[in-house]
Amino acid sequence: MAISPDEIAQVRAATDIVALISEHVALKKSGRRWTGLCPFHGEKTPSFSVNAEEGLYYCFGCRASGNPFTFVREIQHVDFIEALRMLADRAGIELHEDANAGPARKDRQEFLKVMERAVDWYHDRLLNSPDARSARDYLRSRGISGDVARQFRLGWAPDEWDALTNALKLNEKVLLGTGLGFVNKRDRRQDSLRARIIFPIFDPAGKAIAVGGRILPPPFGPAPREDGRIEPKYKNSPETTIYSKRRTLYALNWAKDDIIKSGEIIVCEGYTDVIAFFAAGMPRAVATCGTALGEDHFRMMRNFAKRIVLAYDADQAGQSAAASVYQWERQHEVDVAVARLPKGSDPAELAQRDPEALRQAVADAVPFLKFRLERVLDSANVATAEGRARAAELAMEVLAEHPSEIVRDQYLMQVADRLRLDFAPLRPRVAELARNPAQRSSPDSRPEVVPTRRRSTGAPMPRPGLEALRLCVHFPSDVKGRLIVPYFVNEIQRDIFEGLSSDRSLSEVIEDLQRRGDEEASAILSQLAVDELEREYTAADVTAVVSQLVRSAVRAELKNVERDLREGRMAPDVAMATIRDVKERLEYLETAQGETAENDLRAWLLERSSSAHS
Ligand code: UTP
Ligand code: MN
Repeated sequence: MAISPDEIAQVRAATDIVALISEHVALKKSGRRWTGLCPFHGEKTPSFSVNAEEGLYYCFGCRASGNPFTFVREIQHVDFIEALRMLADRAGIELHEDANAGPARKDRQEFLKVMERAVDWYHDRLLNSPDARSARDYLRSRGISGDVARQFRLGWAPDEWDALTNALKLNEKVLLGTGLGFVNKRDRRQDSLRARIIFPIFDPAGKAIAVGGRILPPPFGPAPREDGRIEPKYKNSPETTIYSKRRTLYALNWAKDDIIKSGEIIVCEGYTDVIAFFAAGMPRAVATCGTALGEDHFRMMRNFAKRIVLAYDADQAGQSAAASVYQWERQHEVDVAVARLPKGSDPAELAQRDPEALRQAVADAVPFLKFRLERVLDSANVATAEGRARAAELAMEVLAEHPSEIVRDQYLMQVADRLRLDFAPLRPRVAELARNPAQRSSPDSRPEVVPTRRRSTGAPMPRPGLEALRLCVHFPSDVKGRLIVPYFVNEIQRDIFEGLSSDRSLSEVIEDLQRRGDEEASAILSQLAVDELEREYTAADVTAVVSQLVRSAVRAELKNVERDLREGRMAPDVAMATIRDVKERLEYLETAQGETAENDLRAWLLERSSSAHS
């Protein structure tokens, strides 16, 4: 890798470490230092400290420490070179690497630039173009003025096939790479979004990475189609190398400051809900982008605020997988509360009708468990003994999902009170349900992940994956950063690896696999955990294992490339070049150039896997 030390120093000097870390953590100035909650371990009081002049950070809790490069490596799980590239991009410094060193990265840069231009172009159309009049009227009818449209850089995709593609002269590669367009059956380039209001989506640093497009409802938009086909209300960018839905929160870039100031983050379902919260004086709202709230979102949020308020439609609220919510609450040391909105209203609607009521709903948000209990109790028939017994049973199932006995007991007292039942006999029943989730009956309280997802197949386990998992268990630090999910082509092994990659203990991972009905996975992992190793592993042994695994994963993926080629999803010259490049690197594995080859193949597989899930 031919990067000069000068360039590394240059990138380091050009990086403002406080600004960099602030993209992930809320930092406050305290004396000559900046402090905040450590992003590398869960904590409630700040022990993470940043020295701006020296460009260094240190955590008094977990002793994580380093410079901008280590920070990016640790937080993004990338190697030094990739961290260097990211920071160079950020600082606008061009690195003079070998010509073939970072094609994927160059592409990403290009896609980001194009996305930025597209957002500008859409925005300009909305503000200035005569054909956007009905879009402006519609937005105004929902209380979204020109100022608000500018604040969120809303746009308009005109009612044409290829207006954006033509105006910005976008080629096939960037159309696909950004998801802004595609090549249609007649071999013409075409825009993905047409006659839609554009909601651009940004990363926490404010870079445009995707767009969502909403149709205009009648009477602003066209009458329903004659053929009865219904257009989806929203069309969103697919997953691309610059956009990962499960790692994105809409509006976090704008909401960050108020989230930090208030210590609270409001999560809603829709872009319009977020905008409504801002308009109602609560600029600390974000939304998931067409996916459920998940672990990655919590990982992002916990660094900014400890109170998470879910503001969903009345019917949606509390539906989230309860078991996961409690697990994340504990793991990330956050509190999840639910804002109680009037039935039939969502934040956007309520903000326009009665902004004060929306503010009150957030201020009065109740803990997730309480909210779920209330739902059960409110629909109970307390007039009869049978009704009260049934309600008690349902309430106990909801209670049993919470991991803390102390919390369960407190709520159980309230339940008993409310149903006029004796507390004492209920208690052992809750404990029993907590120990043994299989006994729970109501679909309402059953954990989202349904057990017995997979029975033992008895099929032989691929050897390379198994060996790699053995290393993960016994020598985690030796393989740290070298293994990635797409390496594990076997589903069971992949589940195990994903479990091991979380920062949970071995026994917790095993338990979790069991809970999900992944018997085979938990059995394999239990066995690996107690395996006697026959010998010491040298660095060469580790590399041999990793290389075997890479080889098997790459071979499997090459089959997919061939399939894409056959089915016309990949241009022949691109496919041929890819196959050639990849095979060449396979040959270098376990040679002196092995490390570079391995890194390249890893990057390639990651890229393939992220674009496959669109
Ligand atoms: P909603 O239907 O609640 O839309 O979907 P909304 O954002 O509140 O929009 P308005 O208020 O009706 O204009 C919530 C979110 O679900 C995703 C979008 O991210 C949307 O913001 N969604 C919804 C889709 O991805 N596709 C759809 O067809 C509908
Ligand atoms: Mn909505």
